[in-house]
Amino acid sequence: MLQETTTKQQNAGSGQNTGADQNAHVELKGLTKDFDGTLAVDDLDLTIYRGSFTCLLGPSGCGKTTTLRMISGFVEPTRGEILISGISQRGVPPHRRNTSIVFQEYALFPHMTVGQNVAYGLKVHHVAKDELRTRVNRILDFMGLTGMEDRLPTSLSGGQQQRVALARSLVMEPEVLLMDEPLSNLDAKLRVKVRTELKDIQRRLGITTIYVTHDQEEALSMSDKIAVMDEGLLQQYGAPWELYFNPSNRFVADFIGANAFVTVRIESLSESEIRLAIGDQRIALPSTAVADKVDDRDKDAKLSLRPESITIRPAGDDGTRDERRTLRGTVKANQFLGAYVRYWVEVEGQEVIVDDHDPRFQGILEGDVALLLGESDAQLFPIER
Ligand SMILES: Nc1ncnc2c1ncn2[C@@H]1O[C@H](COP(=O)(O)OP(=O)(O)O)[C@@H](O)[C@H]1O
Ligand SMILES: [Mg+2]
Repeated sequence: MLQETTTKQQNAGSGQNTGADQNAHVELKGLTKDFDGTLAVDDLDLTIYRGSFTCLLGPSGCGKTTTLRMISGFVEPTRGEILISGISQRGVPPHRRNTSIVFQEYALFPHMTVGQNVAYGLKVHHVAKDELRTRVNRILDFMGLTGMEDRLPTSLSGGQQQRVALARSLVMEPEVLLMDEPLSNLDAKLRVKVRTELKDIQRRLGITTIYVTHDQEEALSMSDKIAVMDEGLLQQYGAPWELYFNPSNRFVADFIGANAFVTVRIESLSESEIRLAIGDQRIALPSTAVADKVDDRDKDAKLSLRPESITIRPAGDDGTRDERRTLRGTVKANQFLGAYVRYWVEVEGQEVIVDDHDPRFQGILEGDVALLLGESDAQLFPIER
């Protein structure tokens, strides 16, 4: 397994997957876990593709860890089926599954050296001494840990400990690598660095990876595919790009990206455009961009607006001529965040978040402003989720 993949990895993230089953590696079918009345995972159907980096993303308590533990065999499903390479895992104990799991807390043995920690699983499996040494050395080398064999985990940095934990999993040469929030004990800067490393290792090995996180940025930046979960239910499964630009419901739109949701009234809906009222203001947006989830006329709906797709200008500025896409509002607060200024703007008693990515151009605005909405990034959702 420790051969770097030479064939170009299939891009599991792009659109329709024809002949999907051929590429399916881990299949969850109606997977359900009921902890005495708590439905931790509810009838989950998911196909994870061979060689892909797939994230389970969702808020705390949505059932991510339970799903991962069912795949690894540590938790018995209440109902449903797990297939790995087409083979049912029912009744297969954890150590007989071709999976390996990396936990948030690393769970390194503190009294064992790095080398001993990495060799532990091979020893338990009675791998012959020579082969054991070869495999341990190869993985230490691969992970940039050569020279640290004899150190104790406590003498290593958080990032190094995380690499040892990963090495300990990879040395087992699992078919499927499972990771449960493996970066959450690292500080913010290191987290970004290690996630780049992790992704690089995964790509070089081409190993099917299922990665649990509640951090949308982590999921967006690393994944071929993301399964968004809430309350045990799958909300959407798709490439990061798809989830961001075409969320299938309000939960996904809200969870991914810093969106504002504005209550609007649908005044008319035609093939080409949708006319909306927000308090006393009127706007029109192309119906292709907004109308696919809502079809009722004359009803209230929620308009989701991305902070980066709105242009903010001083009220009355010439740059905001497109009246049909312009909202008038008042700046309530702003934060200078270096690369951009984030504004909280009140529009008809509601809050809209706007990011100005080139603040040097107009400075920091206050008082009355005009907001020019990006045509295609606004999304309309029903009032109820
Ligand atoms: N062993 C358990 N016994 C009872 N309830 C559990 C157990 N493990 C998890 N749960 C419950 O199942 C739900 C999902 O938990 P979990 O899978 O850990 O979520 P996540 O990893 O997304 O934070 C939560 O409501 C949690 O309290
Ligand atoms: Mg968890």
